[in-house]
Amino acid sequence: MSKTISGFSKLSKSKKIDWIVDTYFSNAEDAKTILKQYWNTNDKLQQLHDEFIENTITNYYLPLGVAPNFLINNKLYTIPMAIEESSVVAAASKAAKFWLDRGGFKTTVISTTKIGQVHFMYSGDTEKLKRFFQDVKPKLFKDSEEITKNMTKRGGGILDIELRDKTSEIDNYFQLHVSFETLNAMGANFINSCLEQFAKTFKNEALNFDLFSETEQQIEIVMSILSNYVPDCLVRAEVSCPVEKLSDNPAISGEAFARKFIQAVNIAEIEPYRAVTHNKGVMNGIDAVVLATGNDFRAVEAGVHAYAARNGRYSSLSHAKIEDGIFKFWMEIPLALGTVGGLTGLHPLVKLALEMLHKPSAPELMQIVAVAGLAQNFAALRSLTTTGIQQGHMKMHLMNILNQFEANDEEKLKLTDYFKTKTVTHNAVIEALKSLRN
Ligand code: MEV
Repeated sequence: MSKTISGFSKLSKSKKIDWIVDTYFSNAEDAKTILKQYWNTNDKLQQLHDEFIENTITNYYLPLGVAPNFLINNKLYTIPMAIEESSVVAAASKAAKFWLDRGGFKTTVISTTKIGQVHFMYSGDTEKLKRFFQDVKPKLFKDSEEITKNMTKRGGGILDIELRDKTSEIDNYFQLHVSFETLNAMGANFINSCLEQFAKTFKNEALNFDLFSETEQQIEIVMSILSNYVPDCLVRAEVSCPVEKLSDNPAISGEAFARKFIQAVNIAEIEPYRAVTHNKGVMNGIDAVVLATGNDFRAVEAGVHAYAARNGRYSSLSHAKIEDGIFKFWMEIPLALGTVGGLTGLHPLVKLALEMLHKPSAPELMQIVAVAGLAQNFAALRSLTTTGIQQGHMKMHLMNILNQFEANDEEKLKLTDYFKTKTVTHNAVIEALKSLRN
């Protein structure tokens, strides 16, 4: 069993590393070298990264790639993507190019409302609680003015506060269900600060509400927290073109392509096993842009998957149909994103990514991210229903296999050329490398 340690967070970075390498590694010096290899030579930049979280020992690199040629509402974008999976950026670029020649992507922000809740317990007369809520509501707004004044000045803030009775599910359980407009901020800190203030005001005012009995005055706050379920922070992305323009492969007609593509989408609409993988493909595009732009991909993931299950069965995020000879492929997706606050003004690569995207507002970023998801889904379904996924995927994975076997530049060049016309499999690459080396 490994050792335990107390006061670890108070140690200096170098002492933390010493403890880690001595405790876990047979070759402590080698482990230390690897960790230090990833430190930035610019001390200030390294310190910035050290201070993002607690107990930083090094940096964890992901490639930052770009997918150019995205035409979104007639404006061109190059989309930055932070991701490790070999074929994702290539697939996005291919889909962007494909739709560039067919009118590009169209997007609409449907809504931008976010939700937070104060969860509390009240045992007593519900009618009296309702009276109390109406009484205290203006004070909830008033007491949070210090927190909301800047957001309100910019046109956002608290939209509404509702009292919700949840006692049919848990005895004595009620909520303050609050809706917010957080403009260009993702809003987590803003929402949580407001909620904690509401909780304080609500609890304190209950102690002085004349109609309450002594028991009723004792409201118990369980927790105050934003919700990452944001079905009213919704964006739509779509592509469309005449069916006959859909195929760029002479071996398959546009009609046949569309039919099979729509079948694949229909399967993901009704079959959860397929829907999860289908949506994972969507998230390949979404997460990569969310990460590159310094947003919280865990929040986005949680919200998106909950939305995909909103009708009681996990289902496809995207949909497709043919209408009057036009192929239509679209997706509506909830995305709580920010272009101010958080990492967006701190991480130099995030600032760069946002500048590359023409410094978008949060609603603009929602549209770009949704497009990356739809493009990724289109590329995956196009491969799956025509060549199969492995052809493109393994081509991109070839370099990883070559690196695993420490192929030199010349070997890489020869083997990428060799595999242009051959099927890439792990074994085939090893065999080819062996015969080259002999
Ligand atoms: C792989 O990362 C993503 C796919 O599995 C998505 C899909 O099956 O639609 C290719």
